[in-house]
Amino acid sequence: MYKHLIAPSILTADFLHLEKEIMMVNSSDADLLHLDIMDGVFVPNLTFGFPVIRQIKKVSEKPLDVHLMIVDPDRYLEAYRDVGADWLTVHYETCQHLHRTIQKIGELGMKPAVSVNPHTDVSLLEPVLGDINMVLVMTVNPGFGGQKFIQGSYKKIRKLKKMISEGGHKTLIQIDGGVTEVNISGLIEAGVDVFVVGNTIFSAPDPHQVIRNLKNPK
Ligand code: DX5
Ligand code: ZN
Repeated sequence: MYKHLIAPSILTADFLHLEKEIMMVNSSDADLLHLDIMDGVFVPNLTFGFPVIRQIKKVSEKPLDVHLMIVDPDRYLEAYRDVGADWLTVHYETCQHLHRTIQKIGELGMKPAVSVNPHTDVSLLEPVLGDINMVLVMTVNPGFGGQKFIQGSYKKIRKLKKMISEGGHKTLIQIDGGVTEVNISGLIEAGVDVFVVGNTIFSAPDPHQVIRNLKNPK
């Protein structure tokens, strides 16, 4: 049976004990480790940079899924590869020459993905669906963990699923923001392949169990 993937986002993890948090993810059923990179310009928040990612790469046994919420990401594609990104997601809204950016990510040996903000129509990605490994549909406005899932996202996910199957593509659908143990089943049904989950995992008393529940929802 096809199983959806879980990508814990460390945005709301305990940064004083980051190694411990990553070890927890290593020993869990999670599939990827999601890292949120914010520049304080594209989104109203800042997170961490290259030295931190390099250290994370040393301890993570899961591939690094790096989500760039930064303007002009072209300047740094190589640098993210060098610190260990396996998947690299850029935002549609930040790329002047999206196709060129995607090509470059692939040439550097990473898996390219493109993200769309809640207000951005997924139809805009139709021309590049065959060139990317994944589309990341933001299901909250990017910038912070622990926000409420935007209900209008279901329609968008279904539309994207249809575009992918009609085009005969293998592109995965990832969502990010407000995923819980309650809404995950309906989202799998809508066609989501990869779930980024922050707060639901890292604020739980037993994060291991939560990841198990998210992998095997009722
Ligand atoms: C939001 C980030 C997310 C965030 C999701 O801008 O891209 O990855 O960590 O967090 P939750 O699951 O708490 O909504
Ligand atoms: Zn993210």
